[in-house]
Amino acid sequence: MKILIATQKPFSAIAVKGIIDIIEKAGHQAITLEKYAEKSDLIKAVEDVDALIIRSDKVDAEVLDAAKKLKIVVRAGAGVDNVDLEKASENKVVVMNTPGQNSNAVAELVLAFMIYMSRNQFNPSTGSELKGKTIGIQAFGNVGRLVADKAKALGMKVFAFDPFVNAEQFAEANVEAVNSLEELYQKSDFLSLHIPATAQTIKSINYDLINKLPKNACLINTARKEVIHEEDLAKILRDRQDLKYITDVAPDHYDELSKDFATRIFATSKKMGAQTAEANVNAGLAAAKQIIDFFEKGIVKFQVNK
Ligand code: 3PG
Repeated sequence: MKILIATQKPFSAIAVKGIIDIIEKAGHQAITLEKYAEKSDLIKAVEDVDALIIRSDKVDAEVLDAAKKLKIVVRAGAGVDNVDLEKASENKVVVMNTPGQNSNAVAELVLAFMIYMSRNQFNPSTGSELKGKTIGIQAFGNVGRLVADKAKALGMKVFAFDPFVNAEQFAEANVEAVNSLEELYQKSDFLSLHIPATAQTIKSINYDLINKLPKNACLINTARKEVIHEEDLAKILRDRQDLKYITDVAPDHYDELSKDFATRIFATSKKMGAQTAEANVNAGLAAAKQIIDFFEKGIVKFQVNK
């Protein structure tokens, strides 16, 4: 089988080597397409491949239709909002992710974000400490759980809200669950988003919700830019001079926002939450193994489309 590793934002060299080793040892052919400039490059590259490993690369209907022999796409990472799942199912292509494999890297970035903002973006003015502060975790999945553990180690008080996690699971994680999103926001000096971008969550972080945050709170987004209601964000940053926003996924109008609220907003220049050598190796190798298991044993454990 021919397996394409298509990554606009490449994995580390060691991860690429590991992925290729797994593929070749299993008797398949690996090809790479890195840092490609145009969608047409991807469309051309998928023409005769049987499997595809991607990161945030967009696999839409056009890409899927061009990939006539494609049987499986594995997103080396968590979010699959970049893949047209319906079209993949229609074309009988299995789509998987690699849950948990890059979560620690993202969770560590959340800590870095909290420190960066509470130390005034490393300007030498008086900042504040995380110890004794509260953090609210919106969605208690792989990343949320790791953020909770790390925040506790820093002496923070952790709250979480997730309608898909039951009381027993919260108790096991030793985290206090709150009854509503509103309550979570009210209680959080730092509010960390870990929701996927879905029809239900897109633009759901709106003015009313953000306005529930206590004085001097900071909203942290290592999830997806689409979950933020950007007009509302601009309005609340204007209305509430105490609030801060830090994100790994720059808002569409970041230049204007950072001009207006320079000390209270920060976005990384490129999504870097999962951009560590460890996360690249974990997610990339898991993706390669999942493809081999799929071809050799028909295993579809991490399939996300049906
Ligand atoms: C994910 O969904 O796994 C993260 O957002 C990481 O995305 P990336 O592989 O594009 O860095």
